[in-house]
Amino acid sequence: VDEDGTRVFQLTAQAGTTSFREGVETETWGFNGDFLGPTLRARRGEQVAVEVTNTLGESTSVHWHGMHLPPEMDGGPHQEVEAGGTWRPTWLVDQPAATLWYHPHPHGRTEKHVYLGMSGMFILDDDGADAAGLPAEYGVDDIPVIVQDKSFTADGQLTLAQENGVPSGVMGEVLMVNGTIGAVQEVTTERVRLRLLNGSTLRSYNFGFDDDRSFQLVASDGGLLSAPHETNRIQLSPGERAEIVVEMEPGTATMLRSYPQRLGEIADPEGYGALDTLDVLRLEAADELAPSAVVAAQLSDEERLDEADATTTRRFVMKNLALNGQRMDMNRIDEVVTVGTTEVWEVRNDDPMPHNFHIHDVQFEVLSVDGAPPPPELSGRKDTIYTEPGHEYRLIMRFEHYANPEVPYMYHCHLLRHEDFGLMGQFVVV
Ligand code: C2O
Ligand code: CU
Repeated sequence: VDEDGTRVFQLTAQAGTTSFREGVETETWGFNGDFLGPTLRARRGEQVAVEVTNTLGESTSVHWHGMHLPPEMDGGPHQEVEAGGTWRPTWLVDQPAATLWYHPHPHGRTEKHVYLGMSGMFILDDDGADAAGLPAEYGVDDIPVIVQDKSFTADGQLTLAQENGVPSGVMGEVLMVNGTIGAVQEVTTERVRLRLLNGSTLRSYNFGFDDDRSFQLVASDGGLLSAPHETNRIQLSPGERAEIVVEMEPGTATMLRSYPQRLGEIADPEGYGALDTLDVLRLEAADELAPSAVVAAQLSDEERLDEADATTTRRFVMKNLALNGQRMDMNRIDEVVTVGTTEVWEVRNDDPMPHNFHIHDVQFEVLSVDGAPPPPELSGRKDTIYTEPGHEYRLIMRFEHYANPEVPYMYHCHLLRHEDFGLMGQFVVV
C-alpha cells in the first residue's frame, strides 16, 4: 500500500520454462514466474493499481475478468502493452466479494497467451462475505483451484496444433490444477472452500466428487449466492468460476473429478469432451480436523435488478462463428449504452457447437433460460454464461459509473479460439 492508500501490485509478463513432469522442460509464459501468476487480493472500497511490465518478445495485455472498472483500465485489446513496455491501470474496487481472474487479451492472440500460462486469480473481499461463515484462510481451507487442460508434443512442449482435434481449439489430454499434474490438497479443517476457475481455453468441466458426496455451492462468477445451494455437480465453461464448500471426515480422501456433461445439441459431443471423466484434485483429510464455522443460511443480501427498470433490450445471436452476422473489428463500435441504465440482453447460440458469452465491466443476472426461471447455479451474479445451441438466455445488467465514448468494452465467446477468430463485439458506455 503506497502513501496515498493505493494498494499497488506488480505483474511482470515473462517467458520461462516449467517442469510439469520430471526431466522435461516445457517452454511457458507466466506473471512474476514461469507459469501462471500470483493471486491478487483487494477489498471493496480500496483503490488498486497494477504495475504491469511486459518482458515478452511481443505485445500482450492484462484484462481483469469480472471487474467493474473504467474501460481504459480494462486491459482489453485497446490497452495492449508493447514488448518491453509498461502500463499502470488504477481503479476503485466497488463491487461485492468475488473470485475474479486476470489474463491477457491481445487482439487475435488471447488463446496463445492464456494457453502458455498467463493467468491468475484476483480475489475481492468485503465485510458481508467475511460474516458468511465460509472457510477463509487462504491456502489452508480457502483454496484457489485453477483448472486447465494441456496438450503436449512428443518432446514435451505445449501445443495449440492438435492433430485430429476439433477446430475450436485444444482439448488437452493432461489436466492440471494451479500448474500441477495430479494435484493433491491436504485438508486440516472440517470444511474446505474451493474457488474453482475454469482457466481452460476450450474445455468445459462438470465438477463432482468420486463418492458422489454433495457440497454447497456458495458463489458464482460475481460473488456469493443469496443462499447456499446443495448439489453434487457444478458445470463451468471457460472463464466461469464457482466457490464450493466441501465437508471432510477425518482420515478420508475424495477425488474432485469432471464428469460427463451437458453441452447441448452440438455436432461432436465427444470431440468437445462431453463424455469425459477426468481426475482434477485429490483432497486428503488429516486424521484430526480443526472445527469449521457453519455456513450461514443467508450469504448475501445484494439487491436484485428489476426487469421493470430496463430501458433497452438488445439481441445477440452467435451463428456461423459470428456475432449478429459480424466479426470483431477494432475500429467498429457495435453497441452504445447509456451510463446509469439497466438493460436486458438476449443471447442465443445458433451454431451446432459450444459457445459461451462474457461481458466486460458488468455482472449480470440471468432472468430466464428459454423463458423459464434460471436453475439455482445461475441464480447469482455472473459475467460468463454457457450457451447451449438453440437456447435463449435473457440477462439483465446495469451499467454504472464509467462513461467514455472513446474506449470500448468487449463482449464475446470465451472459447478463446472463437474469441480470437472474431466472435466478439465492442460497446461503449456514454
Ligand atoms: Cu476473460 Cu474478454 O475476457
Ligand atoms: Cu464460441
